[in-house]
Amino acid sequence: MDTIASVSRDSNLYRYEGFCFFKELMKPEFINSLQDFEIREDDVFMITYPKSGTIWTQQILSLIYSEGYRNGTEQIETSEKVPWIEFQAVSKDGNTDPQSRPSPRLFASHLSYRFVPRELKNKKAKIIYVMRNPKDVIKSLYHFEAMAAYAETSPNFDHFFQKFLDGDVFAGSWFDHVQGWHSHKDCCNILFIKYEDMIMDLRSVVKQMCVFLEKELDNDSLNIVLKRATFNEMKKDLLANKENMPEDFFDFKIGKFMRKGTIGDWKNTMTVAQSEAFDRIFQEKMKYLDLNFTWNINENRSE
Ligand code: A3P
Repeated sequence: MDTIASVSRDSNLYRYEGFCFFKELMKPEFINSLQDFEIREDDVFMITYPKSGTIWTQQILSLIYSEGYRNGTEQIETSEKVPWIEFQAVSKDGNTDPQSRPSPRLFASHLSYRFVPRELKNKKAKIIYVMRNPKDVIKSLYHFEAMAAYAETSPNFDHFFQKFLDGDVFAGSWFDHVQGWHSHKDCCNILFIKYEDMIMDLRSVVKQMCVFLEKELDNDSLNIVLKRATFNEMKKDLLANKENMPEDFFDFKIGKFMRKGTIGDWKNTMTVAQSEAFDRIFQEKMKYLDLNFTWNINENRSE
């Protein structure tokens, strides 16, 4: 435990081997115990850095896997259908142990490669890793921080920008998270998906997911998935938009999970100097990864 350190800009967090965990919700002993989480062949893990499309993908997976969810006979929130492995929360159906769920189990996680269950690293289960251009992650997280009771709200964007670059936020450094997963892609049965591709052509991305998951959907079912996963549909869908979450966690008068749902909103807040500084850091830190992002909504796919 000697690798545990405090996080200078957020006293709610502790840093442990590069990742920042919530002190109250994620005890180190529990996090370490996840190494032994028993994986089944038909498990599916959806992994993201925060604000990269997590609840969107939770909704899509819930729709792909459950006919009852698609046709409205199953009124279960997506956070129950695709529960977290790293938060020690009691689920609404009284099941406190996500491990005992019936197969096929769907899970969500923000964990870095270092902390996920050992057996995930031998291709036993399927992993979908969703990533988003980090400038929009910064913007989205900046707003999210303000509504989250368990995060120290930054006095201004400049402060938050630096906090993000230093990885003083839940989940730690975006660069380390993406690098950690991407550089281990050959150890895992993993599909990388980009938020921007979902925005630009959700049908293709959902089809790609179905092939990876070996789930065949007929045309009508696919159309329901696509309709129920649009921003506007999800915004009003209490099973998907997280607005049922306890008010002691989030102040929904300040903000929403479903905020703008677009590409390039960073431009409305980030200064040119900040953007250029970010580009330099991005080039340096990501130079060994073969990864391109779409930064603007009207951009050609060649960056
Ligand atoms: P913005 O804050 O930029 O609007 P996460 O679920 O990982 O916390 O990510 C939240 C971000 O995903 C928010 O981004 C939210 O609006 C966006 N999002 C959620 N559902 C979406 C959808 N159906 N279409 C587009 N964006 C969506």
